[in-house]
Amino acid sequence: MNFHAEEKWIDWVDQLSLNDFVVIDDFLSEEIYQHIRSFFLSKLEEDKFDRAGIGSSLNNTLDTTIRGDFTYWLDKSRDKQLADTFGIIEETKDVLNRFCFLSLSGYEFHLAYYPAGTFYKRHVDQFRERSNRMISMIIYLNEGWKKGDGGELKILKEDEEIMVDPIARRCVMFKSADVPHEVMKTHVGRYSLTGWLLYQPSGVGYLLG
Ligand code: OGA
Ligand code: NI
Repeated sequence: MNFHAEEKWIDWVDQLSLNDFVVIDDFLSEEIYQHIRSFFLSKLEEDKFDRAGIGSSLNNTLDTTIRGDFTYWLDKSRDKQLADTFGIIEETKDVLNRFCFLSLSGYEFHLAYYPAGTFYKRHVDQFRERSNRMISMIIYLNEGWKKGDGGELKILKEDEEIMVDPIARRCVMFKSADVPHEVMKTHVGRYSLTGWLLYQPSGVGYLLG
């Protein structure tokens, strides 16, 4: 465990098992945060983001009344500047396999950019035709976020609503199939790294029906 100590991991994993979600502040070091933030800004500058759809790659539709973000899918072999980001994702996967007896074997992550005025309506992170997303993991990259900026993550748990402010270097994880959630309308550009830990590599799950 290179990035976080075992005692910390055990505490976070316990919260995730017990509550179905966990919020972790200062998950990224300042150094990793700066790497990913400058990578993000350069890909935005190069116009490398696509409008996000709803549904799996087999059944993808665009609907800005449901979600308004733009995404850039990461690729470990291409995006070599993000080696430390992939390192912390892999540590997370390994820890969950070890302490939660999950058999996560892959992951898929994208950068997500929500322009001012956009949101993502209530949903769960699994598709009808592909159900291999086990754990959703979001890391916020919003430098200087303050109340009134919007873009909070609302987690719905039974009759409870938990609002998570999307502050820089904070990580949220939840069980993809079990936790409905939504992104409140943001009033400023909103930046995150968002992904899923999978029990089969991406693109294979749909074969399982
Ligand atoms: C998603 C999502 C939440 C967030 O991309 O599926 O729900 O806080 N993101 O960005
Ligand atoms: Ni979601």
